[in-house]
Amino acid sequence: MVKSLRGMNDILSEDYERFTYFIDLATDVAQKYGFHFIETPLLEETALFKRSVGESSDIVGKEMYQFIDKGENDVCLRPEGTAGVVRAFIQKKLDKAGGTHRFFYHGSMFRYERPQKGRLRQFHQFGVESFGQESVYEDATMIMMVADILKRCGIGYRLQLNSLGDANCMPQYRDSLVSFIESVEEEICEDCKRRKGTNPIRVLDCKNAHCQSLYENAPKLINSLCEGCESDFSKLKDILDANSIAYEIDTNLVRGLDYYSKTAFEFVSDNIGSQSAIAGGGRYDRLVEFLDGRPTPAVGFAMGIERLMELIVMPKKAREGYYIGAMDAEAVDLVVNLTQTKRVTNKATCDYKPRNLKNHLKAADKVNAKYCCVIGENERKDATIWVKDLEAKSEKVISLKDF
Ligand code: HAM
Repeated sequence: MVKSLRGMNDILSEDYERFTYFIDLATDVAQKYGFHFIETPLLEETALFKRSVGESSDIVGKEMYQFIDKGENDVCLRPEGTAGVVRAFIQKKLDKAGGTHRFFYHGSMFRYERPQKGRLRQFHQFGVESFGQESVYEDATMIMMVADILKRCGIGYRLQLNSLGDANCMPQYRDSLVSFIESVEEEICEDCKRRKGTNPIRVLDCKNAHCQSLYENAPKLINSLCEGCESDFSKLKDILDANSIAYEIDTNLVRGLDYYSKTAFEFVSDNIGSQSAIAGGGRYDRLVEFLDGRPTPAVGFAMGIERLMELIVMPKKAREGYYIGAMDAEAVDLVVNLTQTKRVTNKATCDYKPRNLKNHLKAADKVNAKYCCVIGENERKDATIWVKDLEAKSEKVISLKDF
């Protein structure tokens, strides 16, 4: 038997209901915040992700579904959504148009990671990207938007916050961090030794416990921010305080993608095991320019839908529409015709096989119909239909012309 690939799941039945419930809810929130839908291709040139997410990141270094296509192009399945949206933004010349452009998207992302609970190789994100706003109010708005979505889903969270500095303060900090890493180099893991040369701040979120204990004494970026970054970060905290959004400062939060500057944030849940990040994002003011666009400030986030599906509190679904069944073979044609007529304005399902009343009632319950309607020999003769309201638990026989 052919099975789905490891880390790639089917989404159906109850899961699909959760999935669409979340997409509809998040779409509603995004539209209320003034964002517009964007769809970008699943397949892009590999160079796009190398230049944006960064060659030193695990995502590009180890996890890409990359191949040479029939036209000899080096392509890969997108591991995340931001790079494609930035490419589209530049390709459509919106960077030259100026103003603010706000997009939301959802779809599959692909990372060749080691699958485990909450970690898939094909997973789904809901994300937003905002271009053209350098104000820290936009960073706060992103965070409040995630908080709104989670609140409406009934999901509790912890918000972790950091500032990664900008082109003014980051280089100086990087130098002091490299000096520190060199002082403990003999004791750190191979990954960290590699990161020292490629993207030193990534050592700070190394998962190795010994490395972590060494880095407790490392210089903290938050103490080295320049005046602009410092005042934006403090304003961000003020806005969140004023809006009653609780947060923790995590000076080791550096995110797994290289394009961030200034604000970085992650929402985590304590109820889904070790893969606890349910949303992540931040500011990426240099990425548009880096991908050959006109310099444009930008900020965004993405939420992991599979992780959220574990946590969503679904509202109880009300019974809806009609289930219509035949008690004998002669009534089947009529039942199918009636169902088709009802479908113009209602949800309606039927069975093509005659069954007894008990089985029709069971079937109607299974599809969560409001009305179970049945036609047998008597009803055929009288041109009537037996109708049970499964919510009110009342039943009656009505003429077909009134049905
Ligand atoms: P990210 O933190 O790599 O950020 O991913 C965002 C979310 O996707 C994570 O918080 C997690 O919930 C989910 N996720 C990531 N990897 C997996 C996986 N293997 N299996 C299941 N869920 C996963 C980004 O992708 C950035 N593009 C976010 C962003 C948008 N930053 C600015 N704009």
